[in-house]
Amino acid sequence: MARKPLMIGNWKMNKTPAESVVLSQGISNRYNRKWDKVGVVLCPPSIDLRPVVTVLDYDKSLIEVGAQNVHWEPSGAFTGEISIPMLKDVGATWCIVGHSERREMFAETDETVNLKVRALVDARLHPIVCVGESLAVRDAGTTIGFVTDQVRAAFAGLEPAEAALAVVAYEPIWAIGTGRTATPEQAQEVCAAIRATLADMFGTETAQSMRILYGGSMKPANVDMFMPCEDIDGGLIGGAALKVEDFTALVEAAG
Ligand code: G3H
Repeated sequence: MARKPLMIGNWKMNKTPAESVVLSQGISNRYNRKWDKVGVVLCPPSIDLRPVVTVLDYDKSLIEVGAQNVHWEPSGAFTGEISIPMLKDVGATWCIVGHSERREMFAETDETVNLKVRALVDARLHPIVCVGESLAVRDAGTTIGFVTDQVRAAFAGLEPAEAALAVVAYEPIWAIGTGRTATPEQAQEVCAAIRATLADMFGTETAQSMRILYGGSMKPANVDMFMPCEDIDGGLIGGAALKVEDFTALVEAAG
């Protein structure tokens, strides 16, 4: 089954609102017909969502916007959090869930990841479910079991049509922001295991329709190694998403 490639920029905690306008406008200005073949999503910090959506408004069906985190409750006493109704109001249609930085530094667990995925699909938003192993897990030879357990936990309790709203991003923690990428063989092996797990949970047809991304120091110089891999449908991009030239080159390489 042909899957439309997807390039997602995760800006992490970078770019002020004023800077977010410059970056999103720069990316939008580079839009050309080749991009029709690729899904493009920008995930700025929450405070930048409104300015980025405003900049992209004229072509928001072509370049979409996502958040980097969300709470599963619709409102309440959760200081510092943002809600799904807030995302919907601002026009965000995607949300990163379970990024390793949030799992490691902000106590995100498989359970809270599942609550967030559930809440997002209930609202018909698209979760970007991040999974990936530490170097210790890789060295122990338990990567496949570790990552597929994360997938099972994140998607627990969903129906196939709900799961199909999501994408999975495989990000080996040791490759994030380090300049060290997984080899295409390593990435393909894990992404194939993720797809097999999704097939076991939701059936082959649903699993074949879902996009699985690689993330971890992906950049224009190495994207061509990953895109031909059978089970890799694009990238979740950190550092290279902060430069117009690099991000647009990645989008064009995916098309
Ligand atoms: O969300 C993006 C990933 O953590 C990858 O970041 O491209 O800077 O390694 P990176």
